Amino acid sequence: MAQIFLDTAKLDEIREAASWGVLDGVTTNPTLMLRAGTADLKTNTLEIVDMVQGPVSAEVLSTDAGGMIEEARDILSWADNVYVKIPTTAEGVKAMKEISSWPNGRINATLIFSPAQAYLVARAGADFASIFVGRIDDAGLDGMEVVRQTCAIFDNYGFDCQVLAASIRHTTHVVDALLAGADIITLPFGVLRKMIGSPFTDVGLERFLADWAQVAGK
Ligand code: E4P
Repeated sequence: MAQIFLDTAKLDEIREAASWGVLDGVTTNPTLMLRAGTADLKTNTLEIVDMVQGPVSAEVLSTDAGGMIEEARDILSWADNVYVKIPTTAEGVKAMKEISSWPNGRINATLIFSPAQAYLVARAGADFASIFVGRIDDAGLDGMEVVRQTCAIFDNYGFDCQVLAASIRHTTHVVDALLAGADIITLPFGVLRKMIGSPFTDVGLERFLADWAQVAGK
């Protein structure tokens, strides 16, 4: 079954989504921290961990392997369900190879734009491969095709690494990612809201209640 993660650092959005009972995890990044108005990654992450039992991803800021490894050592010590987000660069892959050898080496490989990148992070021991569907589409390419190809490649070789569809812009992306066989979809709160919302459901419910009021003579 595909897991649903929330793509935000805003605690009120996470609290609301968690109350629906369908939230499996959370992903943050430096831009989402900016939107949430906090630079205190540890406090924000631990407040999210208090609300969500599943994977909570926090991103390193270093660009060299040594710096990423040091940050990862700290981030992974915060809680057992915290995953460290590592950018998919040459230095990032080096860091992933090291971190994946640790007993608590939980890795979310981020900023992936091709199945070739996804293959390398899976080889380096990442747990999640985050494919930026919306940003690939922005470049005039087919982001969901990258998800489909990555799912096929991971199936071909039996990788444990999970395909995470990220940079989701609308509910059609969600449906297409489910059809493509993505293991995880991380989406903004606005898209989650649109997934549940339908004007037809609202109209139908209104009519049911009106009809019932009529028959019950209220
Ligand atoms: C998730 O892990 C990514 O950081 C996020 O989905 C990026 O989304 P954006 O392309 O909307 O910034």
